[in-house]
Amino acid sequence: MIRRTPGATSTGSLILSPPPRTASLQTMAAYSSTLKRYLPKSLFWRAFLILVIPILALQVVVAFVFVRRHYDAVTEQMAGSVAREIGAAVQEVERASGPLEAERRLIALTLASELEMGFEHGVTVTPEIHREPFDFTAAVIAKTLRDRIGRPMALDFVAVRKQVDIRIGVHRGALLVVVPRGRVNPSNPHLLLVWMFTTALGLTVVAVIFLRNQVRPIRELARAAADFGRGRPGAFRPRGAEEVRRAGHAFLDMRRRIERQIGHRTLLLSGVSHDLRTPLTRMKLALAVAEPCPEIEEIGRDVAEMERMIESFLDYVRGEGEDLAEPVSPVALADEIAGDFARQGREIERTDRIEAVGSPLVPLKRSAMKRCLTNLVDNAATHGTRVRLTVRLTRKNLDFIVEDNGPGIPAEHREEVMRPFTRLDAARNQDAGSGVGLGLAIAGDIARGHGGTLLLEDGTDLGGLRAVVSLPR
Ligand SMILES: Nc1ncnc2c1ncn2[C@@H]1O[C@H](COP(=O)(O)OP(=O)(O)OP(=O)(O)O)[C@@H](O)[C@H]1O
Ligand SMILES: [Mg+2]
Repeated sequence: MIRRTPGATSTGSLILSPPPRTASLQTMAAYSSTLKRYLPKSLFWRAFLILVIPILALQVVVAFVFVRRHYDAVTEQMAGSVAREIGAAVQEVERASGPLEAERRLIALTLASELEMGFEHGVTVTPEIHREPFDFTAAVIAKTLRDRIGRPMALDFVAVRKQVDIRIGVHRGALLVVVPRGRVNPSNPHLLLVWMFTTALGLTVVAVIFLRNQVRPIRELARAAADFGRGRPGAFRPRGAEEVRRAGHAFLDMRRRIERQIGHRTLLLSGVSHDLRTPLTRMKLALAVAEPCPEIEEIGRDVAEMERMIESFLDYVRGEGEDLAEPVSPVALADEIAGDFARQGREIERTDRIEAVGSPLVPLKRSAMKRCLTNLVDNAATHGTRVRLTVRLTRKNLDFIVEDNGPGIPAEHREEVMRPFTRLDAARNQDAGSGVGLGLAIAGDIARGHGGTLLLEDGTDLGGLRAVVSLPR
């Protein structure tokens, strides 16, 4: 749609805008988002609803349409046969010469049928019906009797339980008939419904049990995948339906491939680093016996630097080694690191924020996590004069927070310094130790190996850098 801005001149600007969404589309979207909010999230409950709603709908339709109609037809037939008997009685009474004769004829009829009948002389009958409000079959019975007999009729369904009192206007008076309720409509019609609902309930219970068994393997697969991401590979055996089993096997294949690749890379890198050590040692020996002069000293410094680099390189590679997660107290770990630094004369402030109830232990690859935190604290102590290490433990998360009062890292460089061998401008670092630029890369890798993240942000308290290792529990 092309819309001209108000006040635009003939050469004015044209604004292209999409056609407005119709109101009905918007309401539909609103409805579906409301529905989504109330629908269950888990596969089990969704499948349960998919299963139970049709069963319930079917029951309701069958009960209200089919059973009702069938029940009414049977009622009509039964009431019809009673109407024939009453019709015969009406004829007998009207054929009688007087009230006594009528009584006598009725007694003979009563003996032959189950209906109690009597004659009242000289009364007139006004058509009426007394019934319970929800007694819908009473209406069907009354209609059938009236249609078949064709006389004024008063029916009372409530005076006596399980019986109908009928007065029929006849010549010279009224015929009184007492009909047992069981003669005019089928007894215990609710039994069918009871059977239907109990069977449905039983079947639903069976279905729920089967459904649980179907959903469990999917849950197990999700858990195994999440555990692997957190560096805690556990035992997992694909089970369940064909598709779920296939997904499970695909996951296992993937896990094996990743483990193999990491293994190969680790082996390769550590092999190269190791092999470099031998010539380096030879060079160191040669330098030791050489005539001391400024050049030799310089070469000695370079060799020492190379040695340090290889050491950190091996450290980096070892970070991906296969040590397994074990329950570790994060507070004790943080205290241990602070203690290590204190022994080197570098004071670390320690705080804890424990918001979780329950076990203070968290599964961690202990030595790897210690290396990760040591790297962060080492950076902080190199760049700042105050360092604070905080453990924050909540029900779902474990955070280690390292803060310092140094210069911090500008936001635009934070991604870059996480890459291996990256150091911020050499001038800035000249006096601040000479690292290789692997510390943050190693720390980030270890955090990821635990399924977590390493985040660098502006320190709010101390004003320098704030590094947060955030791990799911
Ligand atoms: N707390 C910090 N404050 C200011 N700058 C930092 C801080 N931590 C890291 N940096 C910057 O990020 C760069 C990369 O840090 P990283 O730990 O990866 O390497 P490094 O400390 O130089 O060497 P290594 O840790 O391998 O000995 C550092 O060179 C430094 O410039
Ligand atoms: Mg460092």
